[in-house]
Amino acid sequence: MSLSSTDHPHGVKTVIVPAAGMGTRFLPATKTVPKELLPVVDTPGIELIAEEANALGASRLAVIVAPNKQEVLRHFEQFPNLVETLAERGKTEQVEKVQRAAKLMSPVAVEQAKPLGLGHAVGLAESVLDDDEDVVAVMLPDDLVLPMGVLEKMAAVRAELGGSVLCAVDVPLEDVFNYGVFDVEEIPADCSQDAETVKRVIGMVEKPEPEEAPSTFVATGRYLLDRGIFAALKRIKPGKGGEIQLTDAIELMIREGHPVHIVVHQGKRHDLGNPAGYIPACVDFGLAHPKYGPALKRAITEILAEHEAGRSGAAEQD
Ligand code: G1P
Repeated sequence: MSLSSTDHPHGVKTVIVPAAGMGTRFLPATKTVPKELLPVVDTPGIELIAEEANALGASRLAVIVAPNKQEVLRHFEQFPNLVETLAERGKTEQVEKVQRAAKLMSPVAVEQAKPLGLGHAVGLAESVLDDDEDVVAVMLPDDLVLPMGVLEKMAAVRAELGGSVLCAVDVPLEDVFNYGVFDVEEIPADCSQDAETVKRVIGMVEKPEPEEAPSTFVATGRYLLDRGIFAALKRIKPGKGGEIQLTDAIELMIREGHPVHIVVHQGKRHDLGNPAGYIPACVDFGLAHPKYGPALKRAITEILAEHEAGRSGAAEQD
């Protein structure tokens, strides 16, 4: 029997994780390995997402997968033979590593037959919700938002101001074309939230040109959405790129009076969705790792010196 939404500390039972993309920017690795299973040091991105969902107190990970991408879900299985072999050899640390994902979260697969857009992917998850769920979280596994905990802040904003709450970061104007961009106004002075980091959203536009961007606050992979999002998603037409855009459904809800706010994230963020963001994430996590950090720091220093001296031995690639 599943827990009721009131048994969840922030009222969020389900976290939706869209993971149906083809990972084209990681080819050839993603011919056989889903992007979400690529490791940051030793832990796949999807497990970092499960850790964040678990910290939020959610109990269901609704993973949207393409028909040939079920391996993402396999990561949450028990692996009894592997556990037994490792245990026999006294490798307790490794046993814990194998068992960790399954302990964090129980995933349910939702198949997206065709890549019709982020909004379409999110909309499919409605089928796994219980009747008592009036809010869902969406976590995009490409985005690591650090330190973890922004969803808890977003839940506190929803508790005070209602509606839906999204995570934003402030980016340089020339980068806005990669994101959903917010049109914002200040929150009322009598509101207990910090006006620097919490703003009311009065419009949202997907991937505008810089000259058309309403601000430099952009959506960054964490959404706390009122259940009404599913009805809105059914009413919008394909938008940017011919896809059903989550941004357009949120914009529709705003136009119809639904309160939407952003929490402007003050920490850091990694984009695991392409090698240019994935490599720094690995370096960042690697440097912070107690076992690998010190040696990695020395290695990076040496590599940098070699590159600066024009003596890199690494094969040059596009
Ligand atoms: C998606 C959303 C976009 C958001 C971005 C955050 O875009 O459509 O609004 O700003 O994620 O990472 P994508 O990166 O999938 O193209």
